[in-house]
Amino acid sequence: MSHLEPTSIDLAVIGGSGLYNFPGLENAERYTVDTPYGPASGDIVIGDFVGKRIAFLARHGESHTLPPHRVNYRANVWALHSLGARRVIGVNAVGGIRGDMGPQVIVVPDQLVDYTHGRFTSFCDVDGAEVKHIDFSEPYTESLRQQLLEAAHAANVGVIGSGCYGATQGPRLETRAEIARMKRDGCDLVGMTGMPEAVLARELGLDYACLALVANFAAGCGDEAEISIEEIFAHLAAATAEVPRILGKLLQL
Ligand code: HPA
Repeated sequence: MSHLEPTSIDLAVIGGSGLYNFPGLENAERYTVDTPYGPASGDIVIGDFVGKRIAFLARHGESHTLPPHRVNYRANVWALHSLGARRVIGVNAVGGIRGDMGPQVIVVPDQLVDYTHGRFTSFCDVDGAEVKHIDFSEPYTESLRQQLLEAAHAANVGVIGSGCYGATQGPRLETRAEIARMKRDGCDLVGMTGMPEAVLARELGLDYACLALVANFAAGCGDEAEISIEEIFAHLAAATAEVPRILGKLLQL
């Protein structure tokens, strides 16, 4: 694998459920990166989009074989950084907790609460590594968040510009009581993959923001007694279709 110059990647995108490749990517080349943390979720595909360079990685693997708790977040973030990515958009499927965050709504969260466990949450978690405590008061890079909002506006795609993402362990969906607790905690959205990706990006000094695609109302928040997985994927497909348009505008800001 050849090393790319840091300036050669304009944007890295980590695709979540429903986004396994980046539509419209031209001259795509695949990179298999060896990382000190083991294999990434798959090859990183680098190609041209609106005249800029995008690096794309499918978080769950291109055939969606990795559940959220088994994603090698450290390897993914490290691999993108090692290829020269300096800003990363994490695209995440979520359930909506807040009333205005129903299916197909797109949200750019500004806060998060981490309920996950048993995941490697730091690059320091290696024998002999220097322990670093990083500031995480603002878990997402504000300038990149603002660029996402501006880009969505330019693309004529409605987005909600703030909200608190609650990261759960999965792969099961939550109980109504768990969601009620998350609501009391101030969470507006629930997803399974937002952490530790965001903190690992911060540890490596990457700009990172989340584009959250609402697939369903979270447990107990909608009218239905049960959440249909088929409906989740149908709503996700509709919201995912907007992603390249938003990111295309972002690249042209
Ligand atoms: N909970 C957690 N993660 C999700 C959900 C949900 O309801 N929908 C899509 N991802």
